Amino acid sequence: MNEDSTRRTPLIAADGEGIARAAAVLRAGGLVAMPTETVYGLAADATSASAVAALYAAKQRPAINPLIAHVLDAEAAMGEAVFDANARALAAAFWPGALTLVAPLSPRSRISDLARAGLGSVALRAPSNRIARALIAAAGRPLAAPSANRSGRVSPTTAAHVLADLDGRIDLILDGGPTRLGVESTIVACLGRAPRLLRHGAISLEAIEAALGFAVEAEELTAGAAPLSPGLLASHYAPRARLRLEARTAAPDEAVLDFGGVLSGGAPGARLDLSPMADLAEAAARLFGHLRALDASGLATIAVAPIPAHGLGAAINDRLRRAAAPRGTEL
Ligand code: TXA
Ligand code: MG
Repeated sequence: MNEDSTRRTPLIAADGEGIARAAAVLRAGGLVAMPTETVYGLAADATSASAVAALYAAKQRPAINPLIAHVLDAEAAMGEAVFDANARALAAAFWPGALTLVAPLSPRSRISDLARAGLGSVALRAPSNRIARALIAAAGRPLAAPSANRSGRVSPTTAAHVLADLDGRIDLILDGGPTRLGVESTIVACLGRAPRLLRHGAISLEAIEAALGFAVEAEELTAGAAPLSPGLLASHYAPRARLRLEARTAAPDEAVLDFGGVLSGGAPGARLDLSPMADLAEAAARLFGHLRALDASGLATIAVAPIPAHGLGAAINDRLRRAAAPRGTEL
């Protein structure tokens, strides 16, 4: 991929013609940003090592951080991975949808080693978004797709966010409007022992546990230990501004990210509410867009209201803590 910053990446309508053009780009080893129901993904042919290498380069993502392969359904997923009873139950309950399953690699898998960062497991998701599904079908192969932002940045929930981060570095952007859910998929590992939650996301832990009928442990990331999900670095989703969490009042030079109208003070003109009615689904859908908008105010600090810990609040708080972590800190 050339690095000429003056080269603009075409942003095209996700109609039949757009999908066909995008699928041709993917089959030729190119990179296409596509909407999903969670965030925009940067898609590449998951079976092609060279396409996946180009993807890591465009995102400036370390190649030790494996990618999610997007497929149409559980049947396609089971061609790539070995699903135990728990993985099957979760796929039946939530696919197509915002759940990623990490399972042992199948000997039949065509997914490139590089997409898996050499691991013996693979992450799979069958998205529900109509455009993503049409693109997977037209490409005729699993699509590796991390969030379509530069590594470490806030995930994109609109085509304009993708353009702001990756213009000139990728081949095409399919515009599907703002994404419905706004936070990434929930990741659950089913690796032959009890399922583990690797990442809070758009499907709540409560819903996962209800589908399985038992409690699920979150994989604790402890300093020094190799994380099971290598992408879960402490500092991630990083805006330029510093975040001050659990704020009740803001100083006159702070931007404000409110929830339910509880946070007073702050700089005039740099105040957004994730959900004036304190609705967590609405807050999740707005989170990354509001962080980008407040970051653009140029203020050094964003004061953030407390967010409840239950349901989608777990994913929102997880992203806020990562956005607030000191830069370069890795767990
Ligand atoms: O909603 C989403 O999941 C979006 C959309 C585009 O599908 N994708 C996304 O991808 O968030 P990404 O690359 O930003 O996050 C994938 C996460 C990383 O934390 C990575 O370490 C983890 O999945 N992962 C991938 N393969 C894994 C594996 N075999 N074992 C453990 N973790 C894995
Ligand atoms: Mg990401």
